[in-house]
Amino acid sequence: MNHPASDAIDVLELYRWAVQDPETHATVLQVIYETLRDGREAAVLREDFAGTSAESVAWLALGEGRRAIAVDRDEATVAWAGRRARRLLGADAERLALVHADVMDVAPPRVAAADIISVLNFSICYFTERRALVRYLAHARRCLAPDGVMVVNTFGGPGAQTASIDRRRVEPAPRLACEAPIAPFDYVWEHRSYDAVTDVLDCRIHFELDDPEGGASRVVRDAFAYRFRLWGLAELCEAFRDAGFDDARPWRHTYDPALGDDGVFLGPVDALADKPQWTAYVVATAA
Ligand SMILES: C[S@@+](CC[C@H](N)C(=O)[O-])C[C@H]1O[C@@H](n2cnc3c(N)ncnc32)[C@H](O)[C@@H]1O
Repeated sequence: MNHPASDAIDVLELYRWAVQDPETHATVLQVIYETLRDGREAAVLREDFAGTSAESVAWLALGEGRRAIAVDRDEATVAWAGRRARRLLGADAERLALVHADVMDVAPPRVAAADIISVLNFSICYFTERRALVRYLAHARRCLAPDGVMVVNTFGGPGAQTASIDRRRVEPAPRLACEAPIAPFDYVWEHRSYDAVTDVLDCRIHFELDDPEGGASRVVRDAFAYRFRLWGLAELCEAFRDAGFDDARPWRHTYDPALGDDGVFLGPVDALADKPQWTAYVVATAA
């Protein structure tokens, strides 16, 4: 990840609590697989652009006999993920293969073929050119086991193309028994600028931490900085098909609190109209 070194502040730990919900994502991935594959369960998850590898850890924590492969090209981030995995999973961390490499350089037999490949938190947007995107998707297709499924997520809408700053208070609440909370803090998501020629958004994550002594808060500006291509859902689905996938469709996971337990939706969508901002999965299947 692109972040400044900080002795005192663990920006990856802040990132994990601010923007990740790994237990939900691990469950969503399994439900998507079961839905598309007649109720069968996936065993091997490959998490590309894994960062904290938190989805892999949750995948292992939530299912017996599962394995995970987490790939990231940043050495310090992979080392951090390894320490966290050992802390949370103990001996089960052996079921996680942490790979320090570019995603393009990792394929079977070096690693197991995956039932699911996930690329979450918008990492597919690292590809700013279509040719590189299709090359990566074709590579990922070859890394899947028979009946494999690939899941990426992305975001868009006019609001994603507008300079903005959103601040949110984060109150860490662990869902895995083995995970310890950290003190609440502020998370700031900035859309700094959008270039319509390249479709690239310059976006940043900042953190603001309370001083335990009651002094001035500590600010970590540009803890993470991204140049993300804002792929449309139609062009992403086309890229998957051009890369050899049999099918690719937008899926959404939404919740309408007015409907209570019936308000949860996870499934494919044919339309997503008139949203100022949206997030969505693209789910692709291979024979
Ligand atoms: C936005 S973070 C996503 C982390 C995680 N997937 C999540 O859900 O939060 C992207 C990560 O991708 C890694 N990365 C970027 N390009 C990569 C590449 N070509 N190969 C492997 N890792 C890459 C970065 O080092 C960074 O840790």
